[in-house]
Amino acid sequence: MSDSKCDAFVFFGASGDLAYKKIFPALQAMVQRGTLDVPVIGVANSDWDLSQLHARMRESLQEHGGIDPDAFGKLSDLLGHYIRGDYADAATFAALKRALGGSQRPAYYLAIPPSLFGKVIEQLAAAGCAPPGARVIVEKPFGRSLETARALNRVLLGSFAEQRIFRIDHYLGKRPVQNLLFFRLANSVQESLWSRDHIESIQITMAESFGLKGRGSFYDQTGTIRDVIQNHLFQVLSNLLMEPPARTDSESIRDEKVKVLKSVATLTPEDVVRGQFRGYRSEPGVAQDSEVETFAAVRLAIDNWRWQGVPIFIRAGKSLATTCTEVVARLRRPPAILRDDPAQNYLRFRINPSCEIALGLTIMDAEGAGSGEKVELLASRFDAGHEREAYERVLSDALMGDRTLFAREDYVEEAWRIVDPVLKAQTAVYPYEPGSWGPKQAAGITPVGGWRVPLDQAAPVQ
Ligand code: BG6
Repeated sequence: MSDSKCDAFVFFGASGDLAYKKIFPALQAMVQRGTLDVPVIGVANSDWDLSQLHARMRESLQEHGGIDPDAFGKLSDLLGHYIRGDYADAATFAALKRALGGSQRPAYYLAIPPSLFGKVIEQLAAAGCAPPGARVIVEKPFGRSLETARALNRVLLGSFAEQRIFRIDHYLGKRPVQNLLFFRLANSVQESLWSRDHIESIQITMAESFGLKGRGSFYDQTGTIRDVIQNHLFQVLSNLLMEPPARTDSESIRDEKVKVLKSVATLTPEDVVRGQFRGYRSEPGVAQDSEVETFAAVRLAIDNWRWQGVPIFIRAGKSLATTCTEVVARLRRPPAILRDDPAQNYLRFRINPSCEIALGLTIMDAEGAGSGEKVELLASRFDAGHEREAYERVLSDALMGDRTLFAREDYVEEAWRIVDPVLKAQTAVYPYEPGSWGPKQAAGITPVGGWRVPLDQAAPVQ
């Protein structure tokens, strides 16, 4: 469902890291593609002026994707205000109001720590900056528990109606993640296999070979489950398991996603193994006695008509053996007619670093000895020139008022309901060697047939 397009874009946190790495490149790409043509206002507490913000934008683009002189010029013209100030100070918002002029549909993007959301939202409302057409875009993590997510929702809903709140999960802006659902619904051959009748288990791996990349203090407050499982990987899961929507509007699609999470049983400590890579506690910003996980393996049970009895396994972590996000769904084995232990077919969806969809099959081996040879039918399309970066995609949609790729209040709360008790249980954290596949205790959370080791791939896709 698409509301009218916004008439101004205001981003809080304009001098921050996220703006530098992701937002400026996304804004330039939006100008290139013609999806950004409204005034842009940066707000932050750094003691800068507009020319310094422009200089920062130039540096950001030089480092992340390069400058397109034409688009950069247009973006510099659009970025006509920098509001410097304290988010607790009414004067900051009075200045914002002046800069907004007669805007009736401003979009406020809060690229700032969630602890500041409440303050900013209240000040926006008090300064008369939240007309009925205004919308707010918030970054993950959305809360750190069910309770805090609900409290945050209350704050946002105090000034913005639910349909005006855009909760970003940039994973939903990734084409391979959208493709999970598209591929399912566009191919009857796949959809006819897609249920407990044929699928034995599903595994999702999100491995990152790198560590904290200087984000120690953020990560030590977060951990793997909050950082990527409760949001990114549950979104992957929802796209994989949801029913076809009754209609293609945003609410019909989001209704089906919520239904998936409602069918997932709340995790117990037996369903989770947490790990921490050796050396984590010496990282800047990390507590010396930190019990925060940098790896988690999780077993989920889903109780609905289509999927009951099909176990879902998720593992994710930092400093692992490779960087790859991949889903593997194993099909039930055929009857043992030609050989005693027939191989399993599977469907494999690679999300990162390349976009691949593969069907694992068995053909007769070259000698005809009856052992069979495993092969893959590979469907893959990588068109870097036309690939939209995830942030460009989600910000364009938010500006246009299309809510499909954003998490709804009920979805976020269900996601927290699933992981909350385990987070509170503070289960053991087992050490693992950097470059490995996590702690040996993770073997307890392993699909029948084992985890598939993703092979390294070269071509990166966002
Ligand atoms: C972020 C997490 O949301 O997603 C990071 O905070 C993680 O820890 C990142 O590395 C992964 O997303 P992408 O798009 O970089 O693969």
